[in-house]
Amino acid sequence: MKRYVILISGRGSNMESLLDAGLPGNCAAVISNRPEAAGLAAAASRGVATRAIDHRGFATREAFDADLAAEIERHAPDLVLLAGFMRILTDDFVRRFEGRLLNIHPSLLPLFPGVRTHAQALAAGVRLHGCSVHFVTPALDGGPIIAQAAVPVQADDDAETLGRRVLAEEHRIYPRVARWFLDGRLRLVGGRVCLEGETAVSGSLHVPQIA
Ligand code: GAR
Repeated sequence: MKRYVILISGRGSNMESLLDAGLPGNCAAVISNRPEAAGLAAAASRGVATRAIDHRGFATREAFDADLAAEIERHAPDLVLLAGFMRILTDDFVRRFEGRLLNIHPSLLPLFPGVRTHAQALAAGVRLHGCSVHFVTPALDGGPIIAQAAVPVQADDDAETLGRRVLAEEHRIYPRVARWFLDGRLRLVGGRVCLEGETAVSGSLHVPQIA
């Protein structure tokens, strides 16, 4: 059975969607950089081992990442899933796990990297917004994109209403991608996404649609 580790910083709703998806693997641990993260209790209530490594206790980003990497390696995971993990990772950390490190980001990358993505989307006036799952590389929110889901932006949206619709899509696509990886159908090959069994798609989506 393959093993995976999930990293969180807060609420952990993406973590819950992963844990509840019946993935073909064992979640060896949920690790948070914030001891107060609500997601830790949600993981523990599902019988998953949890660990908090408070980043505020470390003098440098390198020292924190070294401890975090050692804790992850203890579980010898096949896959590491960032699920609302709000720390920028050092290049060393990313290289150590490259090819088995995934992230979910609440925008249609490469648009709107960083934080406050829903406000960024509203300010930019885009008609479509969404989320992306990608392999993590040293470029912040810049690794090869595996899957995306889009939602239309409504005229009366604020960051909260838009974010809620995006989050529902996050909960759909992240477990799907994790399953592909754990099934051995998804790999990073020469810096590109290799997805076995991917079929061609056709057609287009127009937003808005006017009768
Ligand atoms: C999610 O929307 C996730 O995509 C985002 O934080 C939220 C965490 O919610 N992640 C990032 O912005 C990473 N750059 P959750 O804790 O309920 O999963």
